[in-house]
Amino acid sequence: MTKTTATAHTNIALIKYWGKKDAQLNLPTTSSLSLTLDEFYTTTTVKNSNIDQLIINGQMADPTRVHHFLDGLRAELGDFSPLLISSQNHVPTAAGLASSASAFAALTAAATRHLGLDLPLTTLSRLARRGSGSATRSLFGGFALWQAGTNDQTSYANALPTPNIPISLLVVEISGLQKKISSSEGMQRAMTSPNYEQWVHDANWQITAMQAALQASDLTRVGQLAEDNALAMHALNLSAKDRRFTYFTPQTIQVLDLVKKLRQAGLIAYATLDAGPNVKIITHSDQAAYIQAQLHQELPKLRVTIAHPGPGVSYEQ
Ligand code: PMV
Repeated sequence: MTKTTATAHTNIALIKYWGKKDAQLNLPTTSSLSLTLDEFYTTTTVKNSNIDQLIINGQMADPTRVHHFLDGLRAELGDFSPLLISSQNHVPTAAGLASSASAFAALTAAATRHLGLDLPLTTLSRLARRGSGSATRSLFGGFALWQAGTNDQTSYANALPTPNIPISLLVVEISGLQKKISSSEGMQRAMTSPNYEQWVHDANWQITAMQAALQASDLTRVGQLAEDNALAMHALNLSAKDRRFTYFTPQTIQVLDLVKKLRQAGLIAYATLDAGPNVKIITHSDQAAYIQAQLHQELPKLRVTIAHPGPGVSYEQ
């Protein structure tokens, strides 16, 4: 096979991964649960080369992280030739969506298939974890559950079958002019918060409660749990003992206030945020266009994309 191409979609965690018990292997302190989105994805092609090289959206990129990741694959799967990796990110650049999730999921799938391997999704998930924790969940369509596990063998995600839930996510792009703090760095600081132990305790019951809410197609409960979990995560950043910080900007707060107002008006609208200022609003599919229009009216400069549950990893030759 001269080249192999795989596509993986990005995912948004409803119950977040925010802390590592092993930073080398990306073993998380808690399990997490996500929804893969249809709108945002990465397509990656690999072919043999004389050195490991990375091209993102047509531009040469720093291959250090990918190189480290490929060396991990070589250690596990046996040595293989250097790879030229070309990735196309279909994620709006200002969106700050976790493109590392779709990127490492697509790369793991493309590289292993290129080697002639046809590995189960859970093995791909375990391997993708070493590139980026959230990538564990991007192999799967719809909802996915990443079991924290206790070691490299037991920490990976699985698809979480649910009834057909009419869920939509509005992705509100707030350009992040503030200095970026990587998720690894953010997690390290958050773990110094005096509230960190409480976060782990709460995440443990929230993950069970979220599964029950999904099985019951109870979108209000899904939204409540996701918002509580996300705001508690961001509160850890603000209360960190070591270099406390926030990803929020004034516009983040404006959008959060609007979400609250929409809720008071009787709509299903709950917010979740990752390692950046952008807000994702969880709602019922029937209400998504109305909420988008409200956002446009109040904050006309912000781009808002309506996303739905997306597919798992796919290949083309
Ligand atoms: O996969 P990483 O290392 O980029 O971490 C992702 C962290 C969050 O997006 C904030 C939460 C999550 O579970 O995806």
